[in-house]
Amino acid sequence: MAKISLIVNGNPVTGKVEPRTLLVQFLREHLRLTGTHVGCDTSQCGACVVHLDGKAVKSCTTLAVMADGHEVKTIEGLAADGAPLHPMQEAFREHHGLQCGFCTPGMIMTAVDLVHRKGHDLSDEVIREELEGNLCRCTGYQNIVLSIAAGAKAMAKSDLA
Ligand code: FES
Ligand code: FES
Repeated sequence: MAKISLIVNGNPVTGKVEPRTLLVQFLREHLRLTGTHVGCDTSQCGACVVHLDGKAVKSCTTLAVMADGHEVKTIEGLAADGAPLHPMQEAFREHHGLQCGFCTPGMIMTAVDLVHRKGHDLSDEVIREELEGNLCRCTGYQNIVLSIAAGAKAMAKSDLA
């Protein structure tokens, strides 16, 4: 077993994991942060996307030991408890960017990373290209793209961006 220490959603966390434990297993099973979903386990669907040191990664293909000494943010950490939703979450709510919601945490974490990398004025084409690693089984892509474009603009005006 390996001992790991990391920051998750702003809080210091320690744990003992097997070298093969995946980051998503550590988050869901050890920390009970079940907002991060598992849709495929093979790096195809993006339901498991979290931020590792501020960058979007698929936590189903990242080992928990790789996060040792680093900072992880999950969907639960986007907006603090009791705080308003993050502008990207609010945009998904407002523009009906979800149906069953299974892909939504991964979509939102990917979208926030996209805004950090490419700014607040995102064309539909760029958003669609960047979403290639995120699949929605409900196929509601039209509203997901709309939500991300609106969320990107809203993030420019928010402290939570
Ligand atoms: Fe990680 Fe599908 S569960 S990409
Ligand atoms: Fe159902 Fe995307 S909203 S999988």
